[in-house]
Amino acid sequence: MRRAAIIGWGDYTPPAVLSNMDLASVIDTSDEWIQTRSGIKERRISHVSNADMATAAAKQALAAADLSGDEMDLIIVATCSPDRAVPSVAAYVQRQLGGVGATMDLNAACSGFVYALSVANGMIAAGTVNRALIIGAERLSSFIDLQDRTTAVLFGDGAGAVVVEATEGPEGVLSSNLHSDGSLSEILTIRGAGTEGVFDPDVPHTVDMEGREVFRNAVTRMGEGAVVALENAGLDVEDIDVLISHQANIRIIDATARRLSIDPDTVYTNIHAYGNTSAASIPIALSEALDQGAIKPGDVVAMVAFGGGLTWGAAILRWGDRVTRHHRIEHDLPGTDKTGLELLAARVRGLDLA
Ligand code: ACO
Repeated sequence: MRRAAIIGWGDYTPPAVLSNMDLASVIDTSDEWIQTRSGIKERRISHVSNADMATAAAKQALAAADLSGDEMDLIIVATCSPDRAVPSVAAYVQRQLGGVGATMDLNAACSGFVYALSVANGMIAAGTVNRALIIGAERLSSFIDLQDRTTAVLFGDGAGAVVVEATEGPEGVLSSNLHSDGSLSEILTIRGAGTEGVFDPDVPHTVDMEGREVFRNAVTRMGEGAVVALENAGLDVEDIDVLISHQANIRIIDATARRLSIDPDTVYTNIHAYGNTSAASIPIALSEALDQGAIKPGDVVAMVAFGGGLTWGAAILRWGDRVTRHHRIEHDLPGTDKTGLELLAARVRGLDLA
């Protein structure tokens, strides 16, 4: 059966670090609270645009696949923090990479990467495209509300990317499922960043979240999604070699793993280093897991995600023979001499570091 297999991967995590201690110097929180409740030690704050991060991750993924941008039939950027309403981040990425394939952004909040992978897999199965670049890129630091310490400590910036190609072999996406419950849309929202903010500039463009409700739904829904995806792939939980969850909160990841009765050693996490990077978290974790040798040829990799919408989904993949990059390239973006806190101060109202 024709399906999508991942043949290239890459990531871009901005150099400026915002530690828990940095946050504790400007809001009423502590390193101990943040680590205990979320597992996060630090996160990155970007000095470049969402599209620049997306392009940097994409260049690495293309080099890893030994392909160029003009060989892509489709570019999807999963994001809820685009630089502009028009054009899409994906169109900007194509402008940097070349090519005339289809481009689109996909907003399913933190589930965006699993959604985009599933969409690309469907288009490949249908024969519409042969190769696609799928990127998760977020600049969520733009939406941080320092008046709300519950959410201010959670989010960070970054991008991850994969190149997928049509295959008739045993590797690739074995199954996926996508879901949403729009009736719960208000428990996790960013209001003023859309046209609501144009009609009423007083609507804040910051994250508004009912943390406990999101937590409860996340654990239930990600567990359900994984079970259905496994069933559809004809596999059991014991068959999973590596679980890559959306990096929302270490307690959510642990609770989901317990609910699935999965061996904790199979769960890959990096939330301590980047916080919640929304749609970027799974491809960043995947890229790191591969580079650290955590994924072996033929492994079954499960991806589970949930996010605002509420959205959730899961994908089960069998990895191919290659777990190393064809080429490894360094990023060509300019660096920054600013600290994470200084970069945050430039975009958050009411943060005066003087
Ligand atoms: N530092 C110190 N204390 C804090 C902080 C903080 N940063 N934040 C909250 N507190 C306090 C609260 O004020 C409260 O104090 P009180 O008991 O005196 O009232 C206490 O800590 C407990 O607060 P809760 O909100 O009940 O804390 P909880 O244990 O639920 O943890 C958290 C909060 C981490 C947000 C949790 O609910 C969670 O992880 N939710 C899911 C978050 C998530 O993954 N979101 C996904 C976003 S996805 C997307 O699409 C963008």
